[in-house]
Amino acid sequence: MGTKIAIKDLTKVFYKKESRVTALEGISLDIADGEFVCLVGPSGCGKTTLLRILADLEKPSGGTFTIAKSKKERPLQSMVFQERGVIPWLTVEGNVSFGLKMRHLPEDVIKERTAYYLEKVGLDRFANLYPKELSGGMKQRVSIARAFANDPEILLMDEPFGALDEQNKFILQEELLNIWSETKKTVLFITHSIDEALLLSDRILLMSSQPGTIINEKHIDLPRPRNMEQVRADPSMAEYFVEIWNHLQDEVQRSRN
Ligand SMILES: Nc1ncnc2c1ncn2[C@@H]1O[C@H](COP(=O)(O)OP(=O)(O)O)[C@@H](O)[C@H]1O
Ligand SMILES: [Mg+2]
Repeated sequence: MGTKIAIKDLTKVFYKKESRVTALEGISLDIADGEFVCLVGPSGCGKTTLLRILADLEKPSGGTFTIAKSKKERPLQSMVFQERGVIPWLTVEGNVSFGLKMRHLPEDVIKERTAYYLEKVGLDRFANLYPKELSGGMKQRVSIARAFANDPEILLMDEPFGALDEQNKFILQEELLNIWSETKKTVLFITHSIDEALLLSDRILLMSSQPGTIINEKHIDLPRPRNMEQVRADPSMAEYFVEIWNHLQDEVQRSRN
């Protein structure tokens, strides 16, 4: 498998009036084509900043990154946020097809692809509703369907299930894995949930508190399809859970001092 995302020595410094904040320092990282990578780290360590840089929403202060292009007409990246990811004045269908319309794809392609992903996330019956008529879980389904329908080179997901209740989270995690295994997209997924990272990832990257650097990585070799019972029952995963847990506690303490 080739490298899809290559990040080299990425640094980001924010300047505010008198002070400067080094949000990211010397991030170097390769992500393979089709890999599902989770980024875990204490709050404020620069996870969102890293994603925003990869999404071209923020300029790095130093270093470089490249996203390998496989198809000319494909957008480079789609992003899924924790909330505010849907356009309030468009219907469910309008939201999912939005990016495709912006790219002026043929009407039949737009129709077909939108219907396909609406069905995948179980929203086909709700295509004509507006966001205010939807639950939080349904809104996140819209965001996910839209991201995949855009058919980007890579998917960037910033704690997309962070605001959902446990049950909804489980269902959406499963749906995401289903779509991912079908499309084999390269995914960089931020979460503060260790369970979620273990369930989803091929590889987990652990970040330090500010300035954010990658301090540890682990390949998750559990067979797929996975479910939470399997993950919890696996002794090596239980051990690893404790390892990350301890690490996060240390980092949270460190960032308080
Ligand atoms: N636009 C900005 N201007 C100034 N500081 C920022 C900006 N965005 C993020 N930061 C700072 O950078 C650090 C990392 O933030 P963020 O990437 O949101 O962390 P995380 O997503 O890991 O919680 C924080 O200290 C935050 O205050
Ligand atoms: Mg964040």
